[in-house]
Amino acid sequence: MPAQAWFQSVAGSPDRYPLDQVIYRCPRDGALLEVVHDIEAWRERSPQQWRDLFDARAGRSPWPYRSGVWSRHEWVAPHVDPKNIVSLGEGNSHLLPVQRYAKELGLADLWVKQCGTSHTGSFKDLGMTVLVSCVNQMIAQGQSIRAVACASTGDTSAALAAYGAAAGIPVIVLLPRGKITAAQLTQPIANGALVCSLDTDFDGCMRVVQQLTQDPHLYLANSMNSLRVEGQKTIASEIVQQLDWQVPDWILVPGGNLGNVSAIAKGLLEMQAVGVIERVPRLVCCQAENANPLYRAYQRARAAGRDLQVQDFEPVVAQTTQASAIQIGAPVSLPKAVKAVVACRGVVAQASEQQLADAAARADRYGLFTCPHTGVALACLEQLVADKTIAEGARVVVVSTAHGLKFSEFKAGYHRGGGPVTGVYANKPIELGSEPKAVVEAIHRVLDKQSSGAAL
Ligand SMILES: Cc1ncc(COP(=O)(O)O)c(C=O)c1O
Repeated sequence: MPAQAWFQSVAGSPDRYPLDQVIYRCPRDGALLEVVHDIEAWRERSPQQWRDLFDARAGRSPWPYRSGVWSRHEWVAPHVDPKNIVSLGEGNSHLLPVQRYAKELGLADLWVKQCGTSHTGSFKDLGMTVLVSCVNQMIAQGQSIRAVACASTGDTSAALAAYGAAAGIPVIVLLPRGKITAAQLTQPIANGALVCSLDTDFDGCMRVVQQLTQDPHLYLANSMNSLRVEGQKTIASEIVQQLDWQVPDWILVPGGNLGNVSAIAKGLLEMQAVGVIERVPRLVCCQAENANPLYRAYQRARAAGRDLQVQDFEPVVAQTTQASAIQIGAPVSLPKAVKAVVACRGVVAQASEQQLADAAARADRYGLFTCPHTGVALACLEQLVADKTIAEGARVVVVSTAHGLKFSEFKAGYHRGGGPVTGVYANKPIELGSEPKAVVEAIHRVLDKQSSGAAL
């Protein structure tokens, strides 16, 4: 099928630009670009044929079509020749039913989309496979690209470094010094990237990378490059597919630079346009209270009694948050996120440091191992269930964006104590000697205490 896609302004200018052009903003109106697909061409297959195709490919087609992203090749980056695809087996992450946890929250039906169960431990792999594959093709076609560069709060740089290394493409990453975890810093170092640790915050790194990539031979890999969004939007179709093509009522996702919430909305709206789903779920963008510019804009719009608009937004200086990957005060994808929230009858919620840490720890008691950003989404879920915005009988999906193991300082600090919050669910290890009888007796004392009703 000769499906076509091109870059076009999100602000509505009609000009089209090829996906292998080095371009991030519309030259006519200055707005961000998005990838627009020829949905008419998609309609050459019926909705059922698309569902059948994706079901047939899921997890079992020849490489690279077994990737959750590339099993949707026609919907993602149809111009990329399969021989140029750089895949590390991304996507197809689990959609976990968490019924015991749901029951405690007062919900009938709760699922967690485990996007952190991935090659570099976060959802960033989904977008990076698309961007690096496109660059790989551009280089194969003779375009001169010396390196691919990004600013990062830790996870983007890990993904870019891994995919760049897999393809043999040099990578430059700009990181805010002291504001990312040890695991996140180690990842691009291990993959051989040029790692620059800047004395600024993420927003400062973002300003530098935009200047750096004014050189057309240094290609920008942040999500303001909408090729990334095309990979990330597959979260939406995977969720629906994993629910047997049923649409949930709500999807909650943590938001920082706001690329992911925009991507999920895009995925949903395209599926609706081609008839694969009949309605779109409501979206909740979940922010940390210490880095909440979209939440503030949403509150301004609500106070004015109307839908969110770009004009409601004012950047903030993001304060320190345990959810370090969303410590962002001037989100680059803001205009796309505003559209996403409005189109999906969205809500913007926020969580305090105490709430996000407790929510993450509480969810872990049900077998998860949540990162602090997922903690933000879970804390927002708790609030929205408590105030009945989300009804008891709703089917809800929470997008877990990273693996908890990348944030072991956060988890250890919570349980050990001495961190920024006091852990309601803290579970300190008991220090014991080595004498077997004493150890056995100590364990029995704890078990007796627990069975007499004391908290776990
Ligand atoms: C783990 C994690 N969660 C959530 C986000 C937020 O995604 P976005 O910046 O697209 O809003 C990020 C982005 O850096 C992240 O790394």
